[in-house]
Amino acid sequence: MIGGSGIPRAGVIGWPVGHSLSPRIHRFWLAELGIEGRYEAVVVSPDWLGDTIESFRGAGWRGFNVTVPHKETIMPLLDAIDPVAHAIGAVNTVVMREDGGFEGRNTDAPGFIASLRATCVIQTDRPAVVLGAGGASRAILASLKDAGVREIRIVNRDRSRAEALAASFPAIVADWADRERILEGAGLLINATSLGMAGQPALDISLDRLPVTAVVTDIVYRPLKTDLLTRAQVRGNPVVDGLGMLLYQAVEGFAAWFGPTPKVTPALRGHVLAAIGQGA
Ligand code: ATR
Repeated sequence: MIGGSGIPRAGVIGWPVGHSLSPRIHRFWLAELGIEGRYEAVVVSPDWLGDTIESFRGAGWRGFNVTVPHKETIMPLLDAIDPVAHAIGAVNTVVMREDGGFEGRNTDAPGFIASLRATCVIQTDRPAVVLGAGGASRAILASLKDAGVREIRIVNRDRSRAEALAASFPAIVADWADRERILEGAGLLINATSLGMAGQPALDISLDRLPVTAVVTDIVYRPLKTDLLTRAQVRGNPVVDGLGMLLYQAVEGFAAWFGPTPKVTPALRGHVLAAIGQGA
């Protein structure tokens, strides 16, 4: 049996890890599906990363989620990296294969697309505008390319980071000062910056040039309804909040570790929102 006999185990490793909502998501599904499994949060400092992975082998671990600061540094310590994680350059989910090796995957990209598809149609024939060029943007660019979006426009305060991303994922790079101009004709606007998050500065962008048919989404989910989403909704744009990406990225890991493919439901959303102090 993969991962040894006994109760299947999975979890999340990070440093710190207390902020992670993954235990709340996976334990909800374990209870809902009546699966006798365990999902633990394990605090792992960078110095202990290699030893921790070794200690998981043969101890019932089917795999685990990876959060900051290990998403990139874990890659050389694993036995295999799947093509999506390789393209993004980061791993957020590790799965034990039949042969006992640990395979690194990245489920942020499929999670982002699944979250959009759950509520709207992705207009692949119209440009998508991505604000930001950090780790989250890499996963989003990979997912947009995968979904067949024909034109991607990316803009970042530090233009060189956007250019570095455009070298891996073909995209048109614009100056941060031009972020409103590039909204013209767009079918999708994604805020992948930390702007608008609780405790961070607001995202300063007028939506006047954005078609009202464009879908507007934010990776930020604290608060759930960001100022960007509120303003987009008021002018009639369809909006998708950032919680969906978090919930949908968890589906693949759970299915690989515990068997059944779990569902993202209003009950799960409510359960997770309660943990971050927001009503459903
Ligand atoms: P992550 O990996 O989660 O995406 P990150 O690498 O810290 O996090 O990226 C945060 C994003 O928010 C970046 O695109 C960052 O822009 P820079 O690359 O120019 O730093 C963007 N960001 C953060 N604060 C910003 C601000 N005050 N104005 C504009 N962009 C900002």
